[in-house]
Amino acid sequence: LCYNTVAEHLRKLLQENVGRKRLRHVEGALHCAQEICAAHRLDFQPVRIAVLAHDLFRHHPQEWLLQQAKAYAYQPNEVERQNPKLLHGPIAALFLESRFGNMPHLQEICEAVRYHTSGWDFTSYVGKVLFVADGIEMGREYPEVERLRELARVDLDHCFLETVKQQIHFATRKHYFLLPGSVYAWNGALRVWMQKEEKK
Ligand SMILES: [Fe+2]
Ligand SMILES: [Fe+2]
Repeated sequence: LCYNTVAEHLRKLLQENVGRKRLRHVEGALHCAQEICAAHRLDFQPVRIAVLAHDLFRHHPQEWLLQQAKAYAYQPNEVERQNPKLLHGPIAALFLESRFGNMPHLQEICEAVRYHTSGWDFTSYVGKVLFVADGIEMGREYPEVERLRELARVDLDHCFLETVKQQIHFATRKHYFLLPGSVYAWNGALRVWMQKEEKK
């Protein structure tokens, strides 16, 4: 099973399942992710699959997402139970795993998709690139976004740290609950940052 076959399939599914606005977001994230990969000499192919899949179920009804979680024996956490729309990442990851089980780098891609909303202490660059591109693609508008876009070209780990920070700031200001993955994302990104600082 090659990336092009999977990408074609996902593209078709995406067109059937999301509206024009969400499609534009995915196109923006693809473009952004490709630039990040080029700047840091990373293989774009697994990232492309993750970006195409990440918001596939973003506009499915909450009942459908909860039903899928049950079918996959996925236990939603406290925050996901309260806001089932957050399940679109985990369900998309489980879908990929069941549908394209023998795709190369499946685990990295699924980890990226599963935790794209919260962030995670990602074991691979695929998750970091998707998380950052999802947050800074050209359709996003917030005061810090330009600074983050510049940082993405220079230092992916630093940009990941700052994007996680920005999202946690945003969530706490709005009095939203934090997803557990956000805490792992922050601690992981901070650990990498501290190791780099020590070497300086
Ligand atoms: Fe999403
Ligand atoms: Fe997204």
